[in-house]
Order: sequence, then C-alpha cells, then structure tokens
Amino acid sequence: MQSSLQPKSPALVDGLHVGIIMDGNGRWATRKGMSRLRGHEAGVEAIRRVVEAAPDQGVGTLTLYAFSSDNWRRPRAEVTGLMALLRVYLASEVESLARNGVRLTVIGRRDRLPGGIADAIGRAEAATRSGRTLHLRIAVDYSARDAILDAAAKARGIEGLTRDAFSDLVTGEAGLRDVDLIIRTSGEQRLSDFLLWEGAYAELHFTQRMWPDFDADDLAQALASFRGRERRFGGLDAVPLAPAQSV
Ligand code: FPP
Repeated sequence: MQSSLQPKSPALVDGLHVGIIMDGNGRWATRKGMSRLRGHEAGVEAIRRVVEAAPDQGVGTLTLYAFSSDNWRRPRAEVTGLMALLRVYLASEVESLARNGVRLTVIGRRDRLPGGIADAIGRAEAATRSGRTLHLRIAVDYSARDAILDAAAKARGIEGLTRDAFSDLVTGEAGLRDVDLIIRTSGEQRLSDFLLWEGAYAELHFTQRMWPDFDADDLAQALASFRGRERRFGGLDAVPLAPAQSV
C-alpha cells in the first residue's frame, strides 16, 4: 500500500526532478576494510551533501532510493542496520530540513517497517510539509512495479482515466513533475524497479563514483551532462528547458 495522496506544492514545480539510485555503499566500505553498515553510514553523509546542494543547482524535487522492496532479502543484520539509520535520520534531520525549507515525503510501503518508523515518517512529513525550497522524497520498501499495480487497483472503475490522473495515483502526489534525470552511482547500469512510470522519459546518468563519495560537484556534473542533451519526447524537435530549470 502506498502513502495517501499529498497536496501539490506549486512553488516547487519549476525545478528539475532528479532521482538517484545510491549504489556502492557496501563495496566502498569493503574496499576500506570496514563493515557494509559503515558504508551505509557514509551514504547518509552523502545524502546530507546532496540535499544541501540540490536547490542551488536547479533541482526542485529529489527522489532517493534508500531501500527497495527486494532489499528485505539482505542479511538480517544489514536490514536492521539500515532501518536503524533511517530511524536516526528521521529523528535527527527533521529540524534542519524544516529550517532549510525542505519538504520530506517517504514513498513506498509502510506496513512492513519495524517499530515506530511509520509513525516517525508521519511526524517528519507533518513537520516539513510547508517546505518550498526542495521536495525530498525518500523511497523506502519501494517497488515501482508495486506502485503501478496499487495505482491500477485504485483506478479500477474510474471513468475517463487520464495519464495525469493515473500519475497522481502512482506517485501519491497531485501533479508531481515527471522525473527528468535518474543518476546511478557505482558503475551499475540498471533501473532496479525505480520510478518506472514517472521516469518514462528520464535521461539516465551512470557514474563510477561510489555513493559515499558523491558530492555537490558530482551532482553538478550529472546536471551539466543532462543540460547538454536534446530531449525530444518522441518528437523531432528538441524541447527546451524553461529558464527556471536551466539555472
Ligand atoms: C546500495 O548500496 C545502497 C543501499 C541499498 C542503501 C542506501 C542507503 C543509504 C544511502 C543510507 C540509508 C538511508 C537513509 C535515508 C537513512 P549497496 O549496499 O548495494 O552497495 P554494493 O552494491 O556496493 O554492495
């Protein structure tokens, strides 16, 4: 079950929507002789850097893939560690997110999350709901195919269903901008069930950088590559970015 429909945030629709598959935490740590969990901890630092840098680089919506519905298959200790990191992140970050105008929403299933995390998510979303500088979406227990399936179940019986109305059901958000750019770190080149509906025309950027090393310069590089591309959306003419998006 996905979270319920969120209201539109008009001030944010001008910025780009960037999705990031934060990959490579485990390898980063193992190469340094550290535990995989230490890699995930370093990954949280990278999240902080990117959230801080994103608004100045013309990003209005940032969707981060923190835990896929398939990640439950990992060893119990790693899953427990990731959930603990999420709990700490929610508790420690909310105040600074709210202060910096960042609206946080969490996408994905909540009913399988351990002890109190679903409530902590609800509180964090409520505390940051007026943020208009950046919309930060964190995907937890997330599967794009399940999101589409859930939307199809909700859409059953709706007459004259449009793509836009269906998008609202998939994303849980009224009028969410389609994803412009999906970045995946660590050299892997696949989508792994991430934003399959809303990323239908997303540009893809793959970098060798391991997620714990990713910083504002890496984000700038990905966006520069994105801005240098011609987006035609199936037509013959390039569709220009609006001025607000080409910051
Ligand atoms: C992929 O690297 C990363 C994950 C499955 C977890 C991402 C989580 C974080 C960055 C931190 C937790 C998030 C929050 C919001 C608190 P991997 O472990 O698959 O790396 P590998 O491919 O090198 O093994």
